[in-house]
Amino acid sequence: MSEHRIYLDHSATTPVDERVVEAMTPYYHQIYGNPSSTHSFGRDTEDAIETARETVAQILNCKPGEVIFTGCGTESDNIAIRGPVYAALQGGKHLHVISSPLEHPAVGQTVQQLNAVFNVKTTLLPVQADGSISPETLRQHLQPDTTVVSLMTANNEIGTVLPISELAAVAHENGTLFHTDAVQAAGQLPLDVQDLGVDMLSLSAHKFYGPKGVGVLYVREGTNLLPSHTGGSHEFGLRPGTHNVPLIVGFAKALELAEAEREQHVDHFTSLRDRLIDGILTAVSDVQLTGSHDHRLPSHASFVFKNADGNNLLMHLDRKGIAASSGSACHTGNPEPSDVILALGNDRDWALGSLRLTVGRHTTHEEIDFVVKTLPGVVEKVRQLNAAIQA
Ligand SMILES: Cc1ncc(COP(=O)(O)O)c(C=O)c1O
Repeated sequence: MSEHRIYLDHSATTPVDERVVEAMTPYYHQIYGNPSSTHSFGRDTEDAIETARETVAQILNCKPGEVIFTGCGTESDNIAIRGPVYAALQGGKHLHVISSPLEHPAVGQTVQQLNAVFNVKTTLLPVQADGSISPETLRQHLQPDTTVVSLMTANNEIGTVLPISELAAVAHENGTLFHTDAVQAAGQLPLDVQDLGVDMLSLSAHKFYGPKGVGVLYVREGTNLLPSHTGGSHEFGLRPGTHNVPLIVGFAKALELAEAEREQHVDHFTSLRDRLIDGILTAVSDVQLTGSHDHRLPSHASFVFKNADGNNLLMHLDRKGIAASSGSACHTGNPEPSDVILALGNDRDWALGSLRLTVGRHTTHEEIDFVVKTLPGVVEKVRQLNAAIQA
């Protein structure tokens, strides 16, 4: 293992900003009341939660009452899709859900389960080779009973950014709710829910230098949702369970910093990403960029290499001290090609060799140069192994 380790897996998670840790710390041991309690200890933490809610609302350009704190991005996605479906089931109407084969499992598996358990009709939209989906494609698949459309703002595996405001407008023409999973977008793309025109939007703090295990779901006022699990009246009854005050405070602080410094970070990310993409496409043979070239997350570079097993690539890069991913963190270690890469139309001998490199605030140009220099040898070695296994 190399001495200097290079972390290029910021789409999987980011370190917590020290300023965020500082904001959270008093809420573990000094200010610890249960925010639902009526005494002053409870009021202190309740105030902290409401301040955090106002901070998030300001950034999303919505009302504080439209911000729901959740346990993670996965939970936000579940509430956003199950909520309207359960409400429709209760009312005995509108039971069709539209999504895409490129969604994170938090959306994909939820839609699949609603189909298996409740017989909810589902449509996964056809996607273009770069992962984009046009508003026209959505228009063609909407049905009179479509309850909710869920399409992600930016893809975690291939970095493609979708035209969310246009897609949401098409759903609304049909009277259909629109949810977007913006988990990968926060800190990099604008999150103004009025401009985006969405009814629901999911976020997760650990993708923008906040703590793991806390998310937000924006829910437009008047949206008819049932909670996906039941309990007390916390979070307007949509996410029952005692508030995790330090994590909620940390969420708001991390989002505040990410938004205030967004321009500066995006410039840094973009220059590193472009150096990485140009360097790798030049230095390695039989390689393709996955996802969109023009509409992609500033921090995100992803590729497929022909006849190179992605898990072997990760292992050999790790030995050189380079931390990468071959898709979403959920797929790591799985010998099957990622469904997302296959859905783009890649053949199996390409799809198996996927690699995701995602840069962050502390990534340097020297690190990128080291990766570009090291990768061709690693790919060559993995291809030789591949050929030996198949011989
Ligand atoms: C696009 C997307 N949605 C949802 C999630 C899940 O978020 P969490 O890890 O907070 O459950 C992730 C995490 O990788 C993601 O990338």
